[in-house]
Amino acid sequence: VLTQPYTEPPESRAASLVNPTPGDSLIEIDTPALLVDLDRMETNIAGMSALARESGLSLRPHAKAHKVPELARLEVEAGAVGITCQKLGEAEVMAAAGLTDLLIAFPMVGARKIQRLIALARRVHVITTIDSLEAAAPLSQAAASEGVMIDAVLEVDVGYHRCGVDPQAALGTAQALATEFEGLRFRGLMAYEGHIYNLISVEAVEERAALSYNILGDIAARLRAAGVPVDIVSVGASAAARVAARHPAVTELRAGSYIFNDLAQIAMGGATESECALTVLATVVSTQTSERAVIDAGAKALSFVTIPGYAGYGSIRGHEGAVIDRLADEHGMISIPMAVKPFYIGERVRIIPNSGSSVINEFSDLVGVRNGTVECVWPIAARGRMQ
Ligand SMILES: Cc1ncc(COP(=O)(O)O)c(C=O)c1O
Repeated sequence: VLTQPYTEPPESRAASLVNPTPGDSLIEIDTPALLVDLDRMETNIAGMSALARESGLSLRPHAKAHKVPELARLEVEAGAVGITCQKLGEAEVMAAAGLTDLLIAFPMVGARKIQRLIALARRVHVITTIDSLEAAAPLSQAAASEGVMIDAVLEVDVGYHRCGVDPQAALGTAQALATEFEGLRFRGLMAYEGHIYNLISVEAVEERAALSYNILGDIAARLRAAGVPVDIVSVGASAAARVAARHPAVTELRAGSYIFNDLAQIAMGGATESECALTVLATVVSTQTSERAVIDAGAKALSFVTIPGYAGYGSIRGHEGAVIDRLADEHGMISIPMAVKPFYIGERVRIIPNSGSSVINEFSDLVGVRNGTVECVWPIAARGRMQ
């Protein structure tokens, strides 16, 4: 039996008490809620755009970090050439909101994806990411038969071992891509140096990132020597942005996490606690013993992402030593060592998340606060757009 999809009647909940509105003070916001400190975020955006501008790098921030079209627009207004999306669904949301230059950093595999990509490429400038000639072939055929030309970059595996062709195979694959696939215009190389997030010192991060960029530089030089133009050499990680800015081979930076920062960035030496803009606001709802408190933010708010070498699921501001060491779906269990400040029922805590980009996908709204007051509420429009 087919049923009508459920739509929530307006009187179903006291919406004005659930949703924060501009002018509310922090104490009025119901929890759990996802807050962004607007002053801090604006400083982060200005800082990354200055780094890119001063080093002659194109900045194409990764919108997976926030999934909010209004924030993508702020990044573009600050000088970004366009944005990066991980998924086609995110890119569709961003395009519908008026973003016009989108790199989709994910292999396009499957007939429906190809149809949607072509439809998107008719409306905005799209750069697609290729890591196999098998995936390039049907995309090329479909684009050519529809009379559409789609820009493409080849993803190279520089050590993360996720997607990307082996550097040994990159030259041949790029040459084939540049010459044998109608409907696709070869623009250059991209890589994600995600393996640096397993390192624990700034020196190791910088060294490994530079090695990754050397690999791309070498392939780009050999391609150019073979007569293949390489306009784009695009790299990703926020934690290595300064290395990318200095490296002669890199033309484009797709930093994403920098907009909010999180404990992962702190762990890499890429940010300090005061540079973190995103916090989960939660309420202490139970304290059965002096060693345990429970908050109303569990795995569905904080996510199960952990950080190598760090205990727990986020850092509670002002409660050093307390650890959110267990999560149920909707409960976060805090263990409180002796001599650490206790928690009281009804206390509201702010938690810097381990991974901003995971937490952003758990909430419907992002609450912008300045000087302790709600200034705006943005729907997290690309939340859940995994397809
Ligand atoms: C392909 C790609 N590019 C760029 C980024 C942004 O990296 P960061 O979160 O370090 O800013 C990511 C993050 O996962 C990514 O997967």
